[in-house]
Amino acid sequence: MTQQVTQEPLYVGLAGMGTVGGGLIQLLQEDRDLIYRRTGRRIVLRKVLVRNATPERAGMLPEGCELTTDMAALTDDPQIDVVVELMGGTGAAHALISRALEHGKHIVTANKALLAEDSEALFDLARKNNCLLRYEGSVAGAIPIVGTLTDPLAGNHIVSLMGILNGTSNYILSEMTTNGMDFDGALRQAQELGYAEADPTLDVDGFDAAHKLTLLIRLAFGLDYPFASMPVQGIRGMDKRDIAMAREFGYRIKLIAEARLHKDEKDGTTRLEAGVFPALVHHSFLLARVGGVYNAIRLEGAPSGPIFLHGRGAGALPTASVVLSDLLAIARGDKPNNTGFANRIVRAAIVPPEDWRSRYYVRVMVHDESGVLRDLAGCMAAENISMAQVIQKENEKNVVPLVFMTHETTAQAMTRALQKVHETGILQTAPVYYRII
Ligand code: HSE
Repeated sequence: MTQQVTQEPLYVGLAGMGTVGGGLIQLLQEDRDLIYRRTGRRIVLRKVLVRNATPERAGMLPEGCELTTDMAALTDDPQIDVVVELMGGTGAAHALISRALEHGKHIVTANKALLAEDSEALFDLARKNNCLLRYEGSVAGAIPIVGTLTDPLAGNHIVSLMGILNGTSNYILSEMTTNGMDFDGALRQAQELGYAEADPTLDVDGFDAAHKLTLLIRLAFGLDYPFASMPVQGIRGMDKRDIAMAREFGYRIKLIAEARLHKDEKDGTTRLEAGVFPALVHHSFLLARVGGVYNAIRLEGAPSGPIFLHGRGAGALPTASVVLSDLLAIARGDKPNNTGFANRIVRAAIVPPEDWRSRYYVRVMVHDESGVLRDLAGCMAAENISMAQVIQKENEKNVVPLVFMTHETTAQAMTRALQKVHETGILQTAPVYYRII
């Protein structure tokens, strides 16, 4: 059976003229030939919705494209085929997408916060109206991870995924590692380069990566891990000393997003372990070498084996390029495959974070005197935690960093052991500890 492909232009309404919105407007103008060669159609930007319609913004639009501040001018316009939502936030974006779907329009969005926190109704509405709801730009910038999971990897059982999903945090950690910068200076630089979210707390506190991880969990496993219960720890206030000590042990500190299925061999049930946290990654692992604003995702599939994707995780044009690819799919007449699964995504059974098993890096600030190491080791031993390596750096101030790495243990054993250390009175500041992967 041959499919009838229309030659009519695809008419687009865009909501938002920020970093990625501006990038898309640029690509739609510069890439006219590429678009036509790929789809046999033109993509015409008809209207752009903004909060403030300034003459400067109007001047950036292609001929015939109108600037509007009225949401209904996009969602209800019968001459618009696709609404591209790049305005961010959740409330207004949800209203815009729902209304556009009710009017039978396809949607392209890069709004990971919205999709992670509040998307079930939107996917149901898209299904009911037989609309595409595409969101390649919402996870890991230019890396085509959404399409990879819904299409070429669909014949695999994904058992784990581990990634660096926030370009801003990775940029900060890389600058701290290679240029010895401190946290605040590196964050300022990332903001100046346009990588950070409008509210950079989403980046440095781990929530942006957690939004993306929530989407990847659905796409990879067909399971829902409610965003509100996702364990999230960011990199705010990361200390240069820990970056340097980790290096001495042969590791890099990275903000890791991880999800892993655990199968109970006896009854065949599965539970999902997932979260976002800073971790030490051995320098020989590919993830340790992902630098600057780059993102990467390592998937373990069966029977595919491991797959590693690496690319620019933020920035106007790289992200706009995958938003454009979603538009091309719609122009080609692709059928909706919005979640990658035929049925509704179901709630995951969860492994509680206190049961997670891993090795740990721990730094405590203590007085350099007799009995301190004995007390520390005693508290670890009381929780059956075995110490693997220890370094103490002598200095003239007498309060010194004592850093150690442990063999595998559970998060709850580590918390209990550190509480016991606190009770001995040897700690001069709160301990710092990270997982090792
Ligand atoms: N602020 C995000 C990041 C960019 O730093 O990765 C797009 O998600």
